[in-house]
Amino acid sequence: MSSAPSVLVIDDEEIIRETFEALLGSAGYDVRVAETGRDGLDLLAQGSFDVVLLDIGLTDISGLDVLEDIRRLDDELPVIMVTAKSTIENAIAATRRGAFHFIGKPFQNDELLIVLHNALERRRLVKENRELRTRLRSDSHRLDEIIGGSSKMREVYDLISRAAPSRTTVLIQGESGTGKELAARALHRHSARSDRAFVTVNSGNLPPDLLESNLFGHVKGAFTGAVYPKKGMFDLADKGSIFFDEIGNVPLETQAKLLRVIQERDFMRLGGMETIKVDVRIIAATNVDLRQMMEEGKFREDLFYRLHVISIQLPPLRDRKDDVPLLVHHFLEKYGEENKKGPLELTPDALDLLTEYDWPGNVRELENVIERAVVLSPGNAIGVEMIPDHVRKAPNFQMPQFIVPPEGISFKDVITDFEKRLIESTLEAAGGVQKRAAELLHIKPTTLNEMIKRYEIRPRRKRSGNGNGGDAAAAVEPQVPAESAAGAVPPAVVFDEK
Ligand SMILES: Nc1ncnc2c1ncn2[C@@H]1O[C@H](COP(=O)(O)OP(=O)(O)OP(=O)(O)O)[C@@H](O)[C@H]1O
Ligand SMILES: [Mg+2]
Repeated sequence: MSSAPSVLVIDDEEIIRETFEALLGSAGYDVRVAETGRDGLDLLAQGSFDVVLLDIGLTDISGLDVLEDIRRLDDELPVIMVTAKSTIENAIAATRRGAFHFIGKPFQNDELLIVLHNALERRRLVKENRELRTRLRSDSHRLDEIIGGSSKMREVYDLISRAAPSRTTVLIQGESGTGKELAARALHRHSARSDRAFVTVNSGNLPPDLLESNLFGHVKGAFTGAVYPKKGMFDLADKGSIFFDEIGNVPLETQAKLLRVIQERDFMRLGGMETIKVDVRIIAATNVDLRQMMEEGKFREDLFYRLHVISIQLPPLRDRKDDVPLLVHHFLEKYGEENKKGPLELTPDALDLLTEYDWPGNVRELENVIERAVVLSPGNAIGVEMIPDHVRKAPNFQMPQFIVPPEGISFKDVITDFEKRLIESTLEAAGGVQKRAAELLHIKPTTLNEMIKRYEIRPRRKRSGNGNGGDAAAAVEPQVPAESAAGAVPPAVVFDEK
């Protein structure tokens, strides 16, 4: 259960403290108040708060000094300065000392709620980034260049680590862009062969003769133009590893020769008679269904089983979406450095979009999206406008399916229930800010406010901070009220802000 965000109000005026308490309490915050800077700092030292509202003109110590003390206690705690004397000098002094924002008295309620909401989002982001940085350095969240801490990826790391030391052939399967080549390199790197060559074969659409001459070399005069003898990739890879990227492209004739190298550990050059001994570890990758190719007679069954001794399946990115924030962070660091930009971050909305998308091109597609955003982004915070259109296609409003029970249902109750839940969901999406929710629903704020009162809706805040980037769809899913018109409206009315 995520508890309500907690705010500490430090203000010497009783009326202001009461106003904050009432306003923020009804907006779903857990509010504590302190009259003096000293009391405020004591409360901070005892408990944990998510955000502080700090008056500049306190009676005991100056608000700016309190701000400095807070910074020493917790460098990441957002502090919003509040003052009647909202002078430029004050604002500059406060932001210099690390205030998150500055609000002048009197303030608009909506303005305050928005600033608070942003401060909380900011805190969540800073915390998440710190956690991601730590995770990126930890062994459980990466293997060499392969990034991911999901249970599926950890199984992959485990398999790679166990398979690496042997000479056994490994088949790596997975959709395009899932990191098959990275896995092959990791297998090589963690083997005793790591100081020898890792040779990659892209069989592409090479005609069998050319492919075989590349792989095994040829003797002088093997074919027209073979003026000199030539060594092949298997010679190069001796005592090392050879990686067949897309083994499904290897023609049937060549497949037979590969089988021979695997079984006999020797080969013959094109046009040659002599067998050449070789000690090579074979790693193969594919994104096609080799079993089906086998059934269609396009892939040799004996080779398939020789390759399949150990098989590593790389999961598509859509099946391990909890890795998206970590990958994003990794690519932001990588392309940030490459493009000589400072520390970069994605806004929470942009990250939500990336987490919702299905990534048919897997990690490669995600990497390209981040690289593009890093290059094009003018500032250090990368927002939704930097995400390509096809990725940020807005999720649609989903109308529930109505199933009318045999005994019938009260039309009025269903409509009331529907209205109530639509308002609740929209308030969530608007971070509890009624004005914004009214805009989203294309109604007047006063109309929305009337309905909120009529239906006795107690706004809840959008809390997507679950430590791994959040799940926007889950966060905006409304609770089913106890008096729900059961049977008529299915529980989820999903309405997303984007
Ligand atoms: N888990 C990962 N962590 C970090 N980068 C990754 C990961 N998976 C893939 N990549 C990156 O995505 C790109 C594609 O990876 P790779 O070439 O290994 O994929 P592949 O499965 O071989 O794809 P294809 O079948 O299209 O050849 C590379 O730039 C790689 O660095
Ligand atoms: Mg590849």
